[in-house]
Amino acid sequence: KMNAFIDDLLAKMTLDEKIGQLDLQSGIMAVTGSQVNHQYEDWVAEGKVGSIFNNFTYERAYPLQKRAVEESRLGIPIIIAHDIIHGHKTIFPQSLGEVASWDLEVARVGAEVAAKEATADGIMWTFAPMADMVRDPRWGRVSEAPGEDVYLATKMSVARVQGFQGDDLAATDTMAATAKHFVGYGLSQAGRDYHSTDISDHELWSQQMPPFKAMVDAGVATFMTSFNDLNGIPASGSKYLLTDVLRDQWGFEGFVVTDYTAVNELVPHGYARDDKHAAEIAFNAGADMDMVGKSYMDYMKELVQEGRVSEEKIDHSVRLILEMKWRLGLFEDPYRYFDKERAERDILTEENLELARDAARKSSVLLKNDNAALPLNLESIESIALIGPLADSKFDMIGNWAAAGDRRTQPVTMKEGLEARLGDSVAIHYAKGATYAHLHDEEETSTHIGIRSVARDVRGKPAHARMIKEAVEAAKKADVIVLGIGEEQRMSGEAASRVEITLPGTQRELMEELKKLGKPMIGVVFSGRPNDLSWEHQNLDAILHAWYPGTSGGHAIADLLVGDYSPSGKLPMTFPRSVGQIPIYYNMKNTGRPYNAENPNQRQEHYKSRYDDSPNTPLYAFGHGLSYANFEYGEVKLSSETLTMDGELTVSVEVTNRGEHGGEEVIQLYTRQMVGSVTRPVQELKGWQKVHFDKGESKTITFTLTAEDLAFYRADMSWGAEAGEFQVMVGTASDQVQKLGFTLVE
Ligand code: IFM
Repeated sequence: KMNAFIDDLLAKMTLDEKIGQLDLQSGIMAVTGSQVNHQYEDWVAEGKVGSIFNNFTYERAYPLQKRAVEESRLGIPIIIAHDIIHGHKTIFPQSLGEVASWDLEVARVGAEVAAKEATADGIMWTFAPMADMVRDPRWGRVSEAPGEDVYLATKMSVARVQGFQGDDLAATDTMAATAKHFVGYGLSQAGRDYHSTDISDHELWSQQMPPFKAMVDAGVATFMTSFNDLNGIPASGSKYLLTDVLRDQWGFEGFVVTDYTAVNELVPHGYARDDKHAAEIAFNAGADMDMVGKSYMDYMKELVQEGRVSEEKIDHSVRLILEMKWRLGLFEDPYRYFDKERAERDILTEENLELARDAARKSSVLLKNDNAALPLNLESIESIALIGPLADSKFDMIGNWAAAGDRRTQPVTMKEGLEARLGDSVAIHYAKGATYAHLHDEEETSTHIGIRSVARDVRGKPAHARMIKEAVEAAKKADVIVLGIGEEQRMSGEAASRVEITLPGTQRELMEELKKLGKPMIGVVFSGRPNDLSWEHQNLDAILHAWYPGTSGGHAIADLLVGDYSPSGKLPMTFPRSVGQIPIYYNMKNTGRPYNAENPNQRQEHYKSRYDDSPNTPLYAFGHGLSYANFEYGEVKLSSETLTMDGELTVSVEVTNRGEHGGEEVIQLYTRQMVGSVTRPVQELKGWQKVHFDKGESKTITFTLTAEDLAFYRADMSWGAEAGEFQVMVGTASDQVQKLGFTLVE
């Protein structure tokens, strides 16, 4: 039925109308690049545009759809898109934070709620999930990424696709998802946004491709190209990526959209002479839809007339876009996503806010907890000093890429969350205490960040001194100091790279002064990236990493601080000791000269792979995260010392909660291939289980390994396992595991 309908429609379309379907224009509700074409509304009416983003809600999008349907010659509906990244209006934790939950249901439900709310506001297509594998916390977009591990990222990305799309794209509460950015963007050199990437085939196929392939298999509706050039070819103009791999090898059947003006950017990349040449390259490579840059709109007709682009290829891309419109149910009813009552009923509901609170609780990671500083002992504490620029900043709670989220009224801050939980039982003395913008640009960019209250607080040294003094006064009155520290939200996300990843502004000065009081200090960190928290690690008693926890974040943090819920998040990305260690990640290679820090004779370790001025180990390893419970691991057992190519190996361990609190633990399984046809990582995540343990409870946790779990891209790039010696590792974090050996036999 669909094919017949589209055949018929295509037969009626002029070349101009076909080219119109290939164009995506931005409204003005959010701007993520340089170019906004203000005539987009008229273009919709003229049938020159296939889709619009950054223009939603019943009031804004319905009239636009009406113009497409009623004024354009063939009345083809437009798709309304938007960056629904970690929630629409009920904002869930920042994407990287959500991955820290190691809970696929959290990821799926987060996307499902986002789709329910976004579709109620007229949006039917999202530019998520972002599945770029990352290793450089200087890059601001790590906050949107699924972390450094390909196995975890693949599972999380698929769960998100399932959450957004459900089983039926035509249902009015599901939306089309986008696998982005294809591919390599996550390794932008030196963490500088939009920078080049140079990735070996092995790295590319082992580390970057798997989440994308898995999303194709899961039926993701669309793909987005990436900005970077990959091994010399800009990804948005790469026929290898967009056609040979995506279509021919993987069988992807949806359409490909470029990133924002990425077609035009082939010119500064030095890969196209001008915009017309860029349109020819990108379209012929396999980019079906052009985002914002208008190069298809302006030049595609000429390119067809000159025989540089075939009309047949245009028909193919238009067909894919029309198919998506069909699958979204738009030909049946173009107004099916516009329902004022639904927007009032389904957005920011109590249920959604509660789910966001749960996700934030599960995503926060307890990095350090000395002297049982947490949970707060409410029986002995009479007053808390709540200090820091992020302790009561609504604006920052929902993080970046929360384009539709309200930053001014809805988010619950840590202060509000604690006040709601503690009532009058504990006094709270609050002071902001410090600035948290880039020290160097605070003054000169104060208009750029003029919407930020923090910018107005920056009045040079006297203001800093006064803020610190107020904080010290507040702290003197309290039994314990709880800090709300971190980065302001604009320091993460697109175009937000940093060369320093320590906490910005005057936060260190503030903490140094507070430290002199000798009171217990607990840091709650709000940030979208792994920061260098070396100073905080040495000087604070406890550190809870809350990422940007979302609309209900303050309640979730209060739940964790007072012990109503035990932290259970685990790091999805390594936290370095210093920026000099970057890139640092757990699944590194051993090298020919592995350094042994345990060797008592360190002279023997001199000519080894190490630093003169820093340990090799990170501050906090991948998979690290503490709990209020106390999990004791028994001896890990294997069902056999050998695994056959078609057999199974059972790995089991008894875990007991010896602590005073119940809580969830993420039991992690890693393997290592000792010798391979190419050098192999020292550890690779192969499984995990997130399990709740009551106080005193013991459970036997079992994993099953097969040869397929050990498969990889071999020296000749074929996929499969190689017989030989392996290690299996089980533990509470990548750096706290028990190791056992086994042999994979033919
Ligand atoms: O979806 C985003 C993409 O991730 C980065 N550039 C802009 C796009 C649309 O907002």
